[in-house]
Amino acid sequence: MGTYDCLFEPLKVGGIELKNRVVLEPMGIHSHRLVNEDGSFTEDGITYYETVAKGGAALLITSAMPVHSGFDMSKGSRAAMDLAGEEFIANTKKLTDRIHQHGTKVFMQLSAGAGRVLPMFIAQGEPISASDNLPNFWDPRTKHRALTVEEIEGYIERFGDAAVKAKAGGVDGVEIHAVHEGYLLDQFTLAFCNNRTDEYGGSLEGRLLFAKKIVENIKAKCGKDYPVSMRYSVRSFMKGFNDGALPGEEFTEVGRDLEEGIKVAQMLEAYGYDMLNADNGTYDSWWYPHPPVYMPEACNLDESIEIKKYVNIPVICAGRMENPETALNAVKEKKVDGVGLARQLLADSEWPNKLMNDNAEDIRPCIACHAGCLNRIFKGQDICCALNPAVAREEAYALTPAAEKKHVVVIGGGIGGMEAARVSAIKGHSVDLYEKTGELGGMFIPASAMSFKASDRKLIEWYKRQMEKLGVNVHLNTTVDKAMVEEMNADAVFVATGSAPRVLNAEGFESEHVLTAVDALMNPEKVQGDVVIIGGGLTGIEIAYDQALAGRKVTVLEAMEKYLNVDIAAANKNFLLTAVKVYGIDVHVNAKVNAYKDGNVVYTDEAGEHTVKADTVIVSIGYNSNNALVEEIKGGNVHVIGDANKVSNLMGAIWQAYELAMNI
Ligand SMILES: Cc1cc2nc3c(=O)[nH]c(=O)nc-3n(C[C@H](O)[C@H](O)[C@H](O)COP(=O)(O)O)c2cc1C
Ligand code: SF4
Repeated sequence: MGTYDCLFEPLKVGGIELKNRVVLEPMGIHSHRLVNEDGSFTEDGITYYETVAKGGAALLITSAMPVHSGFDMSKGSRAAMDLAGEEFIANTKKLTDRIHQHGTKVFMQLSAGAGRVLPMFIAQGEPISASDNLPNFWDPRTKHRALTVEEIEGYIERFGDAAVKAKAGGVDGVEIHAVHEGYLLDQFTLAFCNNRTDEYGGSLEGRLLFAKKIVENIKAKCGKDYPVSMRYSVRSFMKGFNDGALPGEEFTEVGRDLEEGIKVAQMLEAYGYDMLNADNGTYDSWWYPHPPVYMPEACNLDESIEIKKYVNIPVICAGRMENPETALNAVKEKKVDGVGLARQLLADSEWPNKLMNDNAEDIRPCIACHAGCLNRIFKGQDICCALNPAVAREEAYALTPAAEKKHVVVIGGGIGGMEAARVSAIKGHSVDLYEKTGELGGMFIPASAMSFKASDRKLIEWYKRQMEKLGVNVHLNTTVDKAMVEEMNADAVFVATGSAPRVLNAEGFESEHVLTAVDALMNPEKVQGDVVIIGGGLTGIEIAYDQALAGRKVTVLEAMEKYLNVDIAAANKNFLLTAVKVYGIDVHVNAKVNAYKDGNVVYTDEAGEHTVKADTVIVSIGYNSNNALVEEIKGGNVHVIGDANKVSNLMGAIWQAYELAMNI
């Protein structure tokens, strides 16, 4: 008996059986390297999915595919099921044949489209929705018009026809996208978005008629045993348009509340849906369907558990379900029927196999950053992962044994350094890693100290374990100088000496009450009373939120005209912007800091000079590269990586380390 056996029991969905309880949740992939013009997958796209299948998941739900080419299409796109022909079916057969070899099933996600949540700057055609005058999520000045009954009927037929094509391509079932996340079909079901007076509005039955007719049409065309899943968000967590609620916040729900969520689940079952792929939220509360690191683990589990009490069809729960214990307990105690994982299977596609072999500690944990996945696909880039640059380019980035075994030296035991060491060791080189402090992790140690960053702390542990497992010779408390490097006579040297926080040279800033972000994070006892944070970038705002969670009064002073003006996924950014409002964090922009005097920070903005009480000041104005050693030792075999090369984010450090080390 293995610890996680319960996750590996079969599960019936409609007319088929899944080999276990782990499902790859759908993730939209759109880039041309992975997806053909007609929406079928290229060789690289198929390899990406096959990698997940090899990792042991029982069911892969593929990227959302529009059924209707007339509405909600991206500019220039021809990928819609009503345009899909013989070639699409043949390509889909290639995908399903490859996945089936691993005993894994495939569902194709068929989408009605986005309606008011479509980014209009990438869209072609007119903005449509369930009702007239609904504001676009991305640009609320744009108003959407209601679909006509004839247009809805056109959609319904297309869903059935799309499922027929999917079935012809060997696809084992389809998932309807979606009474979830506030997409078009969800806009019909939410009373807040649906004020139609015809049969597709009014009562709950009316608002669900679209979803009802879709499953009926599919079953009529594909047979009643052909599985049809519904992507379903139980609760909306909406205070209004573009106004979502945070966990624990008291608010009045304008979307779907739990009571209605339970009723809708029962109705979907009665209509013929065979599975509910559950989560919560809408774009307005985007941190539920796309939980960033600030959201609790398993943030959609409670509501999924609730609906399972009222339906007999399988309920799968998605949203930070990657903690093996949480996943196991949810399934073992029959709270839900299976776990849906999206990002975790990018960070480590072997999650199922590793649990099957009782090897949980070897799983590389997803850190819910969205840097390599969601943030990239919204820019039209290939899906990938900040921690695992081989995602969706598995062949090009495969780590093959090096022809010549070399001696590799890594100076600096932060994440970039450990990644270089890890990749070099996997390739078979002998690796020595030198770290000047007594601990591995570098700048990621303070970065992971915030209360909501448990997954970052797990990542450091994972790296430490990989160093041990791969036989990297780690030398702690060792500062390396030029003479030592010469003596080592290494074939390749990675300089990963990281960065140091910038300080602010203003009057009074030498006070013991002024801390750098690193100091504050490493020594939480030094942070007392009211806090003023200098710098409203990502770290500054994250610290502000962390301090507000601890119950402190927090003020942020940002020198530029915008705060949080950083390139992060909208789900992460919108959470933090909402947290600033909800927790009453006082943010001032265009604020030039002059001094710290008599327990106050003095700053100037357009309106003049101000003072703000600060028992503690935390300076978070960026980092400078630590690259003193580089000048002394530079040469052909020396690679400067991570922050020592250029201050960037974790993804920058890991990708650079991987890409250089894979070619040594
Ligand atoms: C890059 C990316 C693309 C996504 N695309 C879709 C999609 O096409 N359809 C869908 O229903 N959900 C989509 N999702 C949501 C995921 O299916 C999943 O519910 C979400 O990531 C939470 O699960 P996780 O915490 O395991 O990642 C996407 C998520 C990501 C990260
Ligand atoms: S990029 Fe970040 S959120 Fe996305 S899968 Fe990788 S670790 Fe997870």
